[in-house]
Amino acid sequence: MSARRTLIAGNWKMNMLSADAKALAGGLAEKLNVAGDANFEMLVCPPAILIPVVADAISGSAMQLGSQDNHMNEKGAHTGDTAAAQVKDAGCGYAIVGHSERRTDHGESDETVKAKAASAQANGLTAVICIGETEAERDAGKTLDVNGSQIAGSVPDGSTAANTVIAYEPVWAIGTGRTPTTDEVQEVHAFIRAELAKKIGQDEADKTRILYGGSMNPGNAKDLLALADVDGGLIGGASLKVDDFWAVAESA
Ligand code: PGA
Repeated sequence: MSARRTLIAGNWKMNMLSADAKALAGGLAEKLNVAGDANFEMLVCPPAILIPVVADAISGSAMQLGSQDNHMNEKGAHTGDTAAAQVKDAGCGYAIVGHSERRTDHGESDETVKAKAASAQANGLTAVICIGETEAERDAGKTLDVNGSQIAGSVPDGSTAANTVIAYEPVWAIGTGRTPTTDEVQEVHAFIRAELAKKIGQDEADKTRILYGGSMNPGNAKDLLALADVDGGLIGGASLKVDDFWAVAESA
């Protein structure tokens, strides 16, 4: 896995109230403190409204904090949205952009995702850019084509390994308990790194972390995280309990 530090990222989606959020984030932060020099980096991405609660619960720990989305514009008349500068100001270092649920629920295109990622990067955040094929696309043999065009369309020019993480999340694996085989995951991750190299250069591509996401859990994490081009996980369901998420991280 070379010099890429494993990133174990929790995507809480639209779950948790403040008391649960405090307990979950605080519990994980405490485990990180006890573990000391862990060989992985841990990140939690709560709903925007809970970011201040979580920031407070993890303060003084090595736990990283991220948002699930940010607007592409700096500020202004965008009711209900959150600017990247506000995400940063609230204590985040990361911002997930382009999750398939946002691409579907909010009609986000590659162009939109790229603009959001660029705004995150410009505000000092590391953009976690999500891509992945649907089941129909995989069945039609288009997996590599789709992921290649999402890399080309969603990753801002001038991205670096320091301000960019890619999350490969097959849409059909999210929340379903199904995953591709480890060979299939490695094939796509190696392909993504090669496509990324065309865009940002081999050097940066070699340093960029590519996470796998989609039904990662304590039972399959070890095999997935052992793959040469898998540099961590973006975890939904299994990130909502201290013991599950910690067990995934410990597999790294
Ligand atoms: P899941 O979600 O782990 O519940 O499949 C992953 C994600 O959508 O980020």
